[in-house]
Amino acid sequence: MADSRQPVDPRRPDLEDSTNVVKEHSNLLETSAAQAREKRIAETGMEPISLWVFLASAIVLLVGGGVLGAGGKLFSYNPHPQDYTRPEFASDADTGPTIGPVLEALTKRGKSIYAKCSGCHGSTGSGDGNQFPPLTGSDWVTGNTERLAQIILNGLSGPINVAGKTYNGIMPPQAPLNAAELAAVMTFIRNEFNDVGEIVSIEQAASAIEIYQARTPGLITVKELNANHDKMLEGEALDPATIVDFETLKPAAPE
Ligand code: HEC
Repeated sequence: MADSRQPVDPRRPDLEDSTNVVKEHSNLLETSAAQAREKRIAETGMEPISLWVFLASAIVLLVGGGVLGAGGKLFSYNPHPQDYTRPEFASDADTGPTIGPVLEALTKRGKSIYAKCSGCHGSTGSGDGNQFPPLTGSDWVTGNTERLAQIILNGLSGPINVAGKTYNGIMPPQAPLNAAELAAVMTFIRNEFNDVGEIVSIEQAASAIEIYQARTPGLITVKELNANHDKMLEGEALDPATIVDFETLKPAAPE
């Protein structure tokens, strides 16, 4: 009788084999105590470097850095000539005079308040020749101060003739400004962009604010300005040369 089993092909699994493959595999995967003691094999590129190579590199870097630092100017960042000594820093007290003529004090303060206006009227007060009128050479600036103050506080609705040209736009109100700020910005545009030679005192600016507060709020017009406000502001006029404290803007005795 011929054997019913096919001749065994060594490349095929022997299906009659009774070995428990799962169990055999789990035996293989178990780590023996000896295996656990073994040093793990590092991944390629992460092998530990020889101590000698490390020490040799350290010595080369140390000696090389020393030679370069001592010999050359490679690490010299001092831009000053040799016997340079740093000057004393100016103390806070030296930042400028703290007292001076009121014209100077108000102009200086007014310059910073003018930042509110320069976006439209330009940093030199020359306007843009089109939409925004100039403050240089404008009668509205150099003329009666009550008119000027009411334009600034209330804003203005055109038309208005400035230096021979008619503008018909809208200026938004610049209030709230306190009396010192209003006096400062008025003094600034009257003397920096024009040469009026007089200041607007804080007392005069305060009376302008009272007039503004008594008025029904809203943009003012040239018609209303001419009818009600074509005069100089009341209040004591201060000599532009009066010495004041730059901080308080109050008269101060010269040092
Ligand atoms: C948003 C733009 C704008 C700002 C900000 C502005 N103005 Fe004006 N200003 C105008 C326009 C526009 C007119 C003309 C309005 C019109 O046509 O009626 C004008 C007119 C004037 C006038 C009268 C006309 C002239 O040129 O003399 C004065 C004075 C003036 N502004 C001063 C100021 C001052 C001072 C400030 C800042 C505290 C200021 N303005 C801020 C747009 C502005």
